[in-house]
Amino acid sequence: MPIIAPSVLAADFANLQRDVELVNASAADWFHIDIMDGVFVPNLSFGVPVTEAIAKHAKKPLDVHLMIVQPERYIETFAKAGASYITVHWEACTHIHRTLAQIKEAGCKAGVVLNPGTPISVLDDVLEDADMILLMSVNPGFGGQKFIENTLAKTSRLKDMILRKNSKALIEIDGGVNLETGARLVQAGADALVAGSFVFNAADPKQVISELKVLN
Ligand code: DX5
Ligand code: ZN
Repeated sequence: MPIIAPSVLAADFANLQRDVELVNASAADWFHIDIMDGVFVPNLSFGVPVTEAIAKHAKKPLDVHLMIVQPERYIETFAKAGASYITVHWEACTHIHRTLAQIKEAGCKAGVVLNPGTPISVLDDVLEDADMILLMSVNPGFGGQKFIENTLAKTSRLKDMILRKNSKALIEIDGGVNLETGARLVQAGADALVAGSFVFNAADPKQVISELKVLN
């Protein structure tokens, strides 16, 4: 069964506690927290105080996705704010190996994110240091975008690479996930699915989370 990580980006920010409680009471496994700086991606989301507010009520681990330049500046801050996983974009890190070590030193699991246009070959020398690889299945910056089909082949290739290298890294997919793309992603080897608009725009978000959870 896949790990399900609803993206709080699609929650109702004026009723954040209500939506956090909804995820607490659902079959979801993690909270996916999207941090955008308006530089690495062409959008702003929210930052540390909101993450702390979510952490205060969350009964499940926070999976913090940093879409920011020089993410090494904020690792300890998000670790303190309550992150369990911190994922950084390969494209935003000059010293990815050092940044992964920094995340682990801060007491969190470390993940590398790849944009849709970044090949998995960049992971060759860093896979053994990562607890998770997050493949973007949309260009990061906005919720509600269309799933990029190439992600399926990319997921299968990453799964092969992980098995070949005897790595324990999880594969997480982010963007355009619904029941249809989610089912194909799990078939291709995805371990964790992020879903924002598909969950929070649904009439019954808890029901949708349960349906994602039983994909196989
Ligand atoms: C996009 C974010 C995603 C976003 C996904 O830049 O990283 O986590 O919330 O939203 P949906 O599921 O609506 O594509
Ligand atoms: Zn995300």
